[in-house]
Amino acid sequence: MKNKKFAKYFKEYRWPNIAAMIRNNRGDPKICTTDFKDRLAVISGATSGIGYLTARKFASHGARLLCINRSPERSAALKSELEGEFGIRCDYLLADLSKIEDIERVANELLLLEKHIDVIIHNAGIYLTKRELTDQGYDKVFVVQYLASFIINSILAEKLKDSGKTRIIMVNSEGHRFAAWGLRLDDLNWEKRRYSGLKSYGSAKLAQLLSMLIFAEVFRGTGVTINAMHPGAVKTETGQENGPVYRWIKRNILDRSLRPAQISASALYYLGVSDEMEGVSGKFFNLTTEEEPAPPALDLEAARELWKKSLEMTDIRDITMKN
Ligand SMILES: NC(=O)c1ccc[n+]([C@@H]2O[C@H](COP(=O)([O-])OP(=O)(O)OC[C@H]3O[C@@H](n4cnc5c(N)ncnc54)[C@H](OP(=O)(O)O)[C@@H]3O)[C@@H](O)[C@H]2O)c1
Repeated sequence: MKNKKFAKYFKEYRWPNIAAMIRNNRGDPKICTTDFKDRLAVISGATSGIGYLTARKFASHGARLLCINRSPERSAALKSELEGEFGIRCDYLLADLSKIEDIERVANELLLLEKHIDVIIHNAGIYLTKRELTDQGYDKVFVVQYLASFIINSILAEKLKDSGKTRIIMVNSEGHRFAAWGLRLDDLNWEKRRYSGLKSYGSAKLAQLLSMLIFAEVFRGTGVTINAMHPGAVKTETGQENGPVYRWIKRNILDRSLRPAQISASALYYLGVSDEMEGVSGKFFNLTTEEEPAPPALDLEAARELWKKSLEMTDIRDITMKN
């Protein structure tokens, strides 16, 4: 079944939005210098790249950190580095975010926290040039890039609503535009089509943006906000699990045109802490500039279908239903 919506989306594309994206890709983030002393930031994938620099940024402003990482060694090194250098407290929870049981466990651990969570940054992500399936037969990129944030947000929803004033930020990507045809809900695991790294990545990021439409409604008026951002095209360790050819191209060609990931960390700090972001929810930012995402990311009908499908893929409670 080809996506019948392609023609509809195609008509909704606006050149000024594309031009704005191109312009924003060259821009710098707004800077926030406010302190965040003893406030709690939860960051996934803090052992490398954008997550690592963001953890350092929050730590340098006095924040307390709780990182969700998969590597015990890298987590211990991060803890010792940040606690030693900034005198803050940095804890971590271990989870492989490609495993649904790990995602659910870590979300339930967050549920037990006594300290209020001020900011949650869903940052962990992967880019795979070859299709990989999880133990449950799901596209791995889809699980890490989308289902992890869907499950954690859903499990935490009631707790966050009760305590209010949490900012959820999802590190998304302009790459959601690679899914220009929309989400193929009948083939999320790439069994009917040829897999491509860019398309799988774009689909997972698109799914995350669609879920934001529903989460923003769920959190409306509660003090909890949820936004997504493109962190810039920046130099990180992304794609290292791919083969030698990809890694060579990345190191010798792609990396040369990429910007330093400090801009992503500054943008995430601004989105998480600045007064200007108070109450702003359901928006997509290119660094710190609000931008309209591609038409498939604004399709509420697709968002509802995806929501249903995501609940079927997991066994969590539907937070859009009143008890
Ligand atoms: N770099 C860019 O230009 C760019 C552009 C747009 C969007 N993004 C997004 O930015 C986010 C961060 O990416 P990055 O570029 O900083 O890449 P990175 O350097 O590869 O960092 C990715 C982080 O995610 C963690 N991670 C990966 N798979 C995981 C899993 N299964 N369970 C738990 N943690 C896992 C990694 O842990 P390990 O340290 O153990 O590997 C690492 O800490 C991603 O969501 C990516 O899609 C990046």
